[in-house]
Amino acid sequence: MKYKLKNKILLTKEQIADRVTSLGSEIAKTYADQDDLIVVGVLKGSFIFLADLVRAISSPRLKIEFIGVRSYEGTTSTYTHRVTSNLTADISGKNVLLVEDIIDTGETIDYLLDLFKGRNPRSVKVCTFLSKPDCHRMRHTIDFVGFEIAPEFVVGYGLDVDGYFRELPHVAVVDQD
Ligand code: IMP
Ligand code: MG
Repeated sequence: MKYKLKNKILLTKEQIADRVTSLGSEIAKTYADQDDLIVVGVLKGSFIFLADLVRAISSPRLKIEFIGVRSYEGTTSTYTHRVTSNLTADISGKNVLLVEDIIDTGETIDYLLDLFKGRNPRSVKVCTFLSKPDCHRMRHTIDFVGFEIAPEFVVGYGLDVDGYFRELPHVAVVDQD
């Protein structure tokens, strides 16, 4: 394993827990008058965030789905997207909340939103744990953001570099020197 982390922790597990709780309340408020919600986690990076987030959404009753999409190799984007594992539910007529680990260029989320809109959901919104606004070049807007961060490569709380470090309970920065 050739990757090294910088010593400084970018986001502690306490900071993350506080923010996830408030995001859950925001989401519950947004869907307060709806009677269904399908939360779709984008694999693999969102799995830890999604697990904490759904437990912070007190209502409405929701279902959980996953979608796999490949777009990144190591630390450089290849800008091609492919669905590697699909939804198991029909989203037509439903409220959908797409949950991402991080929005960097936003190309993945643009691709997924176009794909989902073709399936005629009632609504589609996006929630991301992290966002790098300086790197955005997407067409769509993000509805819920956990934290905005500088354009550094980060890992932990589900995020990886080459598959490593997803299990860290906090967010750390990869030392790219
Ligand atoms: P985008 O299409 O450029 O927005 O890239 C989205 C995907 O790139 C995310 O779902 C991540 O898998 C990956 N990614 C982008 N930046 C980082 C990072 O700092 N750490 C880990 N993964 C990242
Ligand atoms: Mg990744």
